[in-house]
Amino acid sequence: MEGSSSMLDAEAVADLVLLDPLTEESLVQTLQERFRRRDIYTYIGNVVISVNPYQSLPIYTPEKVEEYRNCSFFAVKPHIYAIADDAYRSLRDRDRDQCILITGESGAGKTEASKLVMSYVAAVSSKGEEVNKVKEQLLQSNPVLEAFGNAKTVRNDNSSRFGKYMDIEFDFKGEPLGGVISNYLLEKSRIVRHVKGERNFHIFYQLLAGASPQLLQQLKLRQDCGHYGYLDREGSSLPGMDDAANFHAMQDAMRIIGFSPTEVTELLQVTAVVLKLGNVQLSSSFQASGMEACSISEPQELHEICELIGLEPGTLERALCSRTVKARDETVLTTLTVPQGYYGRDALAKNIYSRLFDWLVKRINASIQVKSDKQRKVMGVLDIYGFEIFQDNGFEQFIINYCNEKLQQIFILMTLKEEQEEYVREGIQWTPVEFFDNSIICNLIENNTTGILAMLDEECLRPGVVNEDTFLTKLNQLLATHKHYESKETQNARRVTDASLPPRCFRIHHYAGKVTYNVTGFIEKNNDLLFRDLSQAMWAAQHALLRSLFPEGDPQKVSLKLPPTAGFQFKSSVAMLMKNLYSKNPNYIRCIKPNDTKSAMVFTPELVLAQVRYLGLLENVRVRRAGYAFRQLYGPFLQRYKMLNAQTWPRWDRGDREGTEVLLAGLEFPAEELAFGHTKIFIRSPRTLFDLERRRQERVAELATLIQKMFRGWRCRTQYQLMRKSQILISAWFRGHRQKNQYKQMKRSVLILQAYARGWKARKTYRKYFRSSASTCLANFIYRRLVQKYLVGLAKNLPPLSVTDRTWPPAPYRFLDGTNQELKNIFYHWKCKKYRDQLSASRRAQLQARLCASELFKDKKTLYPKSLQQPFRGEYLGLKQNPKYQKLHAVAKDKLVMADSVRKVNRASGKTVPRLLLLTTEHLVLADPKAAQPKTVLSLSDIRGVSVTRFSDGFLALHLKEVSTVGAKGDFLLVSDHLIELVTRLYQTFEATTGQALPLHITDRFSTRFPKGDVSITVVESPKASTNGPVCKKKGSNKMEVLVY
Ligand SMILES: Nc1ncnc2c1ncn2[C@@H]1O[C@H](COP(=O)(O)OP(=O)(O)OP(=O)(O)O)[C@@H](O)[C@H]1O
Ligand SMILES: [Mg+2]
Repeated sequence: MEGSSSMLDAEAVADLVLLDPLTEESLVQTLQERFRRRDIYTYIGNVVISVNPYQSLPIYTPEKVEEYRNCSFFAVKPHIYAIADDAYRSLRDRDRDQCILITGESGAGKTEASKLVMSYVAAVSSKGEEVNKVKEQLLQSNPVLEAFGNAKTVRNDNSSRFGKYMDIEFDFKGEPLGGVISNYLLEKSRIVRHVKGERNFHIFYQLLAGASPQLLQQLKLRQDCGHYGYLDREGSSLPGMDDAANFHAMQDAMRIIGFSPTEVTELLQVTAVVLKLGNVQLSSSFQASGMEACSISEPQELHEICELIGLEPGTLERALCSRTVKARDETVLTTLTVPQGYYGRDALAKNIYSRLFDWLVKRINASIQVKSDKQRKVMGVLDIYGFEIFQDNGFEQFIINYCNEKLQQIFILMTLKEEQEEYVREGIQWTPVEFFDNSIICNLIENNTTGILAMLDEECLRPGVVNEDTFLTKLNQLLATHKHYESKETQNARRVTDASLPPRCFRIHHYAGKVTYNVTGFIEKNNDLLFRDLSQAMWAAQHALLRSLFPEGDPQKVSLKLPPTAGFQFKSSVAMLMKNLYSKNPNYIRCIKPNDTKSAMVFTPELVLAQVRYLGLLENVRVRRAGYAFRQLYGPFLQRYKMLNAQTWPRWDRGDREGTEVLLAGLEFPAEELAFGHTKIFIRSPRTLFDLERRRQERVAELATLIQKMFRGWRCRTQYQLMRKSQILISAWFRGHRQKNQYKQMKRSVLILQAYARGWKARKTYRKYFRSSASTCLANFIYRRLVQKYLVGLAKNLPPLSVTDRTWPPAPYRFLDGTNQELKNIFYHWKCKKYRDQLSASRRAQLQARLCASELFKDKKTLYPKSLQQPFRGEYLGLKQNPKYQKLHAVAKDKLVMADSVRKVNRASGKTVPRLLLLTTEHLVLADPKAAQPKTVLSLSDIRGVSVTRFSDGFLALHLKEVSTVGAKGDFLLVSDHLIELVTRLYQTFEATTGQALPLHITDRFSTRFPKGDVSITVVESPKASTNGPVCKKKGSNKMEVLVY
C-alpha cells in the first residue's frame, strides 16, 4: 500500500514512467525531491535509478531484507533489494537466467550496489554449511579484488579501476553453488603514473601500512610510502580509510577464499617487486661507438628484486638496459637510451601487475567455481566503469566509453524488444516509438573494416613508420562524412570553426554526449608490447608465480606472431559479454552521482541532468511508455481499484478481466486511454492513472470511515458481550466462592461443636471409668518404677560383705527410709548369718562364749575390756598332758568345760589359797593343787548365783543353795585370773544344764553365807597397786572388806 501510494505521489513519483509532464527538468526535479526525502531509489518500470547518498542510510538492515523478501515489486518502496529479489525469484521460480547491469559514472555507487545485490541474494538464499561457505567465498572476493583493482581517484576514494562481471551460479532450489568472475581492462597505467591527489592501487598502501615488520623484511620493503617512486610521495593515507585494517581484512578474505599461505606470500612478493621496480634508477652512459646507453645507477634495489624472484641480477640488468633485435635470422643486441630504459621498466611493472591481477581473478575463480556438473541457473552482476568524459581523454576513455555504448545498445534493444514482445503477447497493436538507436556509434567503433578499433589495429600492425598522426589522418579520410565523428580536419572540411577541437584529437558523438579523444598514446597502448628480453628475464626467474605470468618468455615458444592488440582483446571480450548478457533477462541499476564533492545529501541538478542525459533516462521512460504508460495484471488491478464500482465491490465472483472491464466502464474514461490485453490492462497516460488513484484514495477514505465505523461498532459490541460474559462468569465464580466459604465456615463450626460434645462425653466417661483409679495407678506405677530403680541401684551398689562393715547407702527417697533401714538390717543379718554359717563349731562356741561375756559384763565391770585381749582357752592346766592331774582328768572326762587354777579366799582370815578349778557340764570341782584330788565337787544345780565386783579384779562369790549337799560349807569366795571366762562359762554351762539363767550380781556390796552366818562384803577400791589381786579383810564377824585396785 505504502509503496503504491508513494509511487503515485505526483510530486515525487516513485516510477518515472508516471511522470507528467515528462521533461528533463521534471525528471531531475522528481529525483531531487525524492533524494531530499532520502528516497535514493526510483524506478523506470523495472529499472532502478540509484542516487548516491554519500552517507549510510538505515535501509540495508536485516529487517529491510525481510521486508523485501518475496515482495511484490511495485507494492513496496523502490529499493535495490526489490530488483534483487525480483531477479532472484525469477531465476529460482521461472528458471530464467538473470543479469544485473549496474552502470553509472565513477563514484555513482556501482560497486556498492553490486555488493548490496550480492549480500541480499546471500541473505535470502537458503542456509547450510556448504552454502554458507560458498556465499562467504563469493562475498569475500570483493575485498581482495578491491585491494588490487581499486584506487583513490579524484572522483571516488574507492574507484574500481577494472570492469567486473560476476556470474553467480545457483542450483534448481536457488542455493548458490559458486561463481565465475571476468575482469575487463585494468587501468594499469596507474601503476607508474597517477594524477596529483589520486593514489596508486590500494594494495601498495595496505601492504606497507598493515604488514608486520617481519613480513616487510621478508619482502624487502620499507614501511615509508615516500620511499617508493610509484607511490604518491606527498601523502598516502586517506581519511576514512584504514589501510592496515583493510590489509588484514584482505588477508582474511584470501584465507576464506582458499589461498594457501605460499600463494599469499608469492602474491605479495610479486606486488613488492612491482613497487621496487619503480625505484630502479637508470643513468646514461655512452658506449665506445658513441651510442647512448643506459645502466643501473643504484644496483641495491635491483639486487633485492632479483633476490625476491630468484634471478641472477645480471639477467635483469641486461633486460632493462638493452634489447635484442632479430633481423633476418640475426640477433643484434642494441643498447637502450635512458628514456627507453625507463619505458621498458615501467612497461614491465605494468605488465607484471596486470598479469598478476588476471592471475588473482583466475585463482579466485578456481576457488569459487562450481565443482559439480549439476544444472545451474545464473545471475550475472556487471559492475563496469561508467561513461567517462575528462578534460583529456585517451585510449582508456575511448575503450571505456565504447563499452558503455555497447551497454546502452543492449539496454535499448532489450527494453524495446521486451516492450514490443509484451504488446504482441498481450495482443495489443504496437505503435512504433521514436528513440535514439546508438548502433551507428557502436558500428563506428567496432566495425571490422571501417571501425576505429580496426583501423587502429591496422595501423599498429602496418610495417613502416607508424604513429598516431598517420592513424588520425586515416580516420579523417575514412570517417569524413560520419555523423558521429569529428576532428579538426573534418570540421574544417565542413567549414565549421570549432575551437574546442584541438589538433591530434577526434571527437565522437556518443549517445551520452560528445567526447574528444587525444590520439597520443593510442598506438602504444593498443600494442601493449613488452620487450621480449623482459618477458624472457621474468620467465628465467625461479619465482614460480612470476614465472607463470610470462609464458611467452619461454625461449622454446618464441613466436614472431604479434600478440593480439589491447583494443582487439577488449572488443572480443565485450562481444562475449554482450552475447552473455543477451542470453539473460536483464535488470538495470543506473547509478547517479549527485555531486562532485562526495558530500552527503547534496544534489547538484546540473550534474544530475548531465547523467540523466547520457544514461538516456528520458529515453528509457519514453521507450517504457511507448504506447502505454502503465500496465498491470488484471488480478492485482482489480484488487486495487474494485472499490470504485458498486458492482465489483466488495466481491467480484467472475473473471478478473471481466471485472476490470466492468470497473472501468463505470468510470467513463475515454476509450483510447485504455487497452485490454490478454492478461494485463494498459493505461495510456499517467493522468488517467492518477485520476484513478485519486478516486481510489477518496473512496478508500470513505471505506475506511465505514470500516472504522463498523469496526468500532463491532468492537464495542464484542467488548460489551465479552464484558457481560465476563461479568456473569465473575459473579458465578463469586457466588460459588461465597457459598463455598459459607459452607466451609459452617462445616468448621459443626466440627467444633462436635468436637466439644464428643470431648465432653469422653471426659465424662473418663471421669467415670478411668480417672478415679488413675492416680493410684499412676502413683503405683511411679512407685514401682522408683522402687525398681532403687533396688536395681542397690543391687549394683551393695556394701562389702565384711560383718564389721556397717555402711549402707542412704535411701534416695524419703518414703523408702523404713525399707532401707529394714533392708540394711536384713542385709546385715544375712551377712552375719553367712559369716556364722561358715564358722567351725569350736569357733562358734568360743564366739558364743564371748558374746555371753559381753552380755554379762560389758559396761558393767571394768575388767571386761581387759579380757577382750585374752582368748578363752578353757584348759589352762594341761590335764591331759600332765600325769599329775590324771585323776582330775578322769573326773572331768569328756565333760570338761574349763580347767584353771584359782585362789580360794579363806573365809575366816581373808587369806587366799591356790586351788585347781574344773568346770564340767555337770559339776564345778575345786581341787588341791598338790594332791590333785578333788576337794569340793559342786553340782551345778547347787549354785544359787554369782557375785562379782564392778572393778577390774578377779574376785567372785559363788553363792550356793542352802539345801545342797555342799550348802553347809557356805558360799565360796574365789579369785581367778580368768574371771570373765570363768563366770561366762559357768553361766553358759549352768543354763545348758539347768535350763535356767544363773543369777549374776555385779555390785559393790553383797552378802554371802558363810558357815558361821551371813557376811556382808563391801568392795572398796584401793588406790594402791598390788599384783596379788584383791585383798580381803575380815571386819568383824559378819563383815568383810575386799580391797580392789
Ligand atoms: N547506497 C549507498 N549508500 C551509502 N553510500 C554509498 C552508497 N553507494 C555509494 N556510496 C558511497 O559512494 C562511494 C562510491 O561508490 P562506489 O565505489 O560504489 O562507486 P562506483 O560507481 O563503483 O565508482 P567507480 O566507477 O569509480 O568504481 C562509496 O565509497 C560510498 O562511500
Ligand atoms: Mg566501483
